[in-house]
Amino acid sequence: MAKELFAGQKNNRYRILISKEAISKKNLTPLLKEHKKTLIISDDGVPTKILNKVISVSKPSTKVFKIILQHGEKAKSVQNFQKILNFLAEKNFDRTDLIIAIGGGVIGDISGYVASSYLRGIQFIQIPTTLLSQVDSSVGGKTAINIAAGKNLVGAFYNPKGVIIETSVLKTLPEREFKAGLAEVIKYALIKNKPLFSLLKLNAKKILSMDPHIIEEIIYASINTKAKIVTKDEKENGVRAILNFGHTFGHAIEAHGNYKRILHGEAVAKGMKVASKISYLENLISQKEYTEVISLLEMFEFDLSLKQYKYGELKPYIFRDKKMKKGKLNIVLLNKISNAVVTNSFNSANLQKGLKN
Ligand SMILES: NC(=O)c1ccc[n+]([C@@H]2O[C@H](COP(=O)([O-])OP(=O)(O)OC[C@H]3O[C@@H](n4cnc5c(N)ncnc54)[C@H](O)[C@@H]3O)[C@@H](O)[C@H]2O)c1
Ligand SMILES: [Zn+2]
Repeated sequence: MAKELFAGQKNNRYRILISKEAISKKNLTPLLKEHKKTLIISDDGVPTKILNKVISVSKPSTKVFKIILQHGEKAKSVQNFQKILNFLAEKNFDRTDLIIAIGGGVIGDISGYVASSYLRGIQFIQIPTTLLSQVDSSVGGKTAINIAAGKNLVGAFYNPKGVIIETSVLKTLPEREFKAGLAEVIKYALIKNKPLFSLLKLNAKKILSMDPHIIEEIIYASINTKAKIVTKDEKENGVRAILNFGHTFGHAIEAHGNYKRILHGEAVAKGMKVASKISYLENLISQKEYTEVISLLEMFEFDLSLKQYKYGELKPYIFRDKKMKKGKLNIVLLNKISNAVVTNSFNSANLQKGLKN
């Protein structure tokens, strides 16, 4: 069953469509018809079948150009940013034209940032094709590229014009990428969405076997939670910070492995274990609740081992996190399951204990 949601405030409100075959003339024509030219940005890991489908349903509403980047995190570079801007200028794109991002979070992030800056902003549409981008990065308006000093250090808050989530594209996604994306789904369950927590617990097997019906349900539930949070707090001045649950430790684990050994979602799963452990040590959740969190993560086959990480090695990354405010470390903890809080008052000894296996 096709589903729709909305995110963003007033003029920046956008529709998010979720269905098995969401890339259709019916869904795209209304978004494209006022744009003479459209630039599709994608990478060479995204199946060409998906691109061709978008191109065929886009005609004759708009004239389509495309840029295909080399896949991988490296694509979010200043060089590619500049290359795309030059391409738009050469083809005489003006403010009434459009960008479509087709791919995972990497493509969504760089395309969105290009859209936010070319001629001080042109419209863009997200067609996310990984589970992570379908449940997370395509909604919320965060766009970014990387510089030598770090990941996502340059970017803008810039909402898309629309988001089209076609769940059938996940069929070609490598299993490891799919499973890593599930970490973010579990995150929404733990920070806010209790019915999603139960849904995940009851349907782990079906989800892991990629049953299309249940996949659509969990994408909808995830985006529903994210859309509410980011609409309330578009620029991360408050409640939006709970979306970083597990991420301070996850980012440290990713950076420690030089972003090569472990996928983002795999690191976030470990990070959620750490944050839940600290919540328990801080007497915010009971041992029973802590065990429930761990069982859920284990049902989805996450490797939760922390043996290879020494506190001393992770510490510099933890304290370099963007979530440091006025010299204090803000972390997201659980008050109970499906209820997260942001705090900078916790016993620092528990930080170290939380990172023990
Ligand atoms: N803006 C945000 O709010 C936000 C949130 C979370 C993550 N991110 C960013 O997202 C990025 C990670 O995104 P990701 O996990 O989607 O990785 P990704 O974009 O690198 O995609 C992973 C791989 O899957 C391939 N792929 C994409 N769709 C496919 C499909 N349908 N079938 C087969 N292969 C496919 C891609 O070519 C790529 O090689 C990071 O750069 C991260 O910083 C942004
Ligand atoms: Zn994440």
